[in-house]
Amino acid sequence: MRNPPHLRVVSDDAGEVNEARTVITVGNSPPTVSIMSPLNGTFFNHGESVNFQVRVSDSEDGSSEAKQITPERVVVQGAYRAARSGDAVHPGLELMKRTTCFACHTVRDRSAGPAYLEVARKYAKEPSAQQRLAVKVLSGGIGVWGAQVPMPPHPQHTLSEAQLMVDFFEGGHGLVARLSNTGWVKFATVNLAGIRSLRIQLAPLTSLPVAIEVRVGSIEGALIANAETVDRVGEFREILLPVHDPGGLNDLVFIAKTHPAHKGNVLDLNWILFSDK
Ligand code: HEC
Repeated sequence: MRNPPHLRVVSDDAGEVNEARTVITVGNSPPTVSIMSPLNGTFFNHGESVNFQVRVSDSEDGSSEAKQITPERVVVQGAYRAARSGDAVHPGLELMKRTTCFACHTVRDRSAGPAYLEVARKYAKEPSAQQRLAVKVLSGGIGVWGAQVPMPPHPQHTLSEAQLMVDFFEGGHGLVARLSNTGWVKFATVNLAGIRSLRIQLAPLTSLPVAIEVRVGSIEGALIANAETVDRVGEFREILLPVHDPGGLNDLVFIAKTHPAHKGNVLDLNWILFSDK
């Protein structure tokens, strides 16, 4: 309360004045609000809704858990906070967030248009498709994905903008990492709650068997997922790694390993999807 009311007490027939202040609290104590989910560090995909759970308790009105406070009385507002400086955001993704693409495309599931991952898979071995797809984003079209409605034209964008967007769409020709033998890449403060598997698009750069390991904290940390792959050199494919949640926020380290005698690069990591399936 800004201006606590006070009482001034005047006494004494000689004119002496004394003053006492008493804070009179009108209103009541504020409620306690806790966001139970989503947890800090968990994942969401652009274009998909985010489920949330909030608990409220109040010393006068009871609690949401005991159903004395009904959901209608709780207002939750969400805001998308731009990435911290230093976090790399693909410029194509930046553009797509500011335009219409997410109305018809999501990361994993087909909606009006194909999912980003489907598009990435379809054209993974055809880098020259990029130009054709960029033109299609500008001019619109139908007939490739069996959709009932065409993709509308996007005359508001330039060809170079469309190329950037398609580059993101296709899984990007920029890699997450190119790893040498026992080389690693780290993702900071990740919460794996609800994540069951990691889908990784990778290409081995040697014909030797290559192991990919996911460890907690450091290259010597607890192993939470791993796989071994032997494939044609330079050819991208997707692998699925069941993952076990170590609980809480952790740094995750992805390590590539092959025969100790091998010198040079071992693995290209194109993208990693943290999946709840
Ligand atoms: C109104 C819905 C809608 C919007 C908005 C939309 N798309 Fe599409 N998109 C589609 C449909 C439908 C298809 C499938 C077309 C087909 O089958 O040929 C598609 C296909 C694609 C493809 C694959 C094309 C191919 O030939 O394989 C790419 C890439 C793509 N969209 C990118 C974008 C980008 C980038 C944006 C934002 C600028 C966007 N889309 C906005 C509906 C949409």
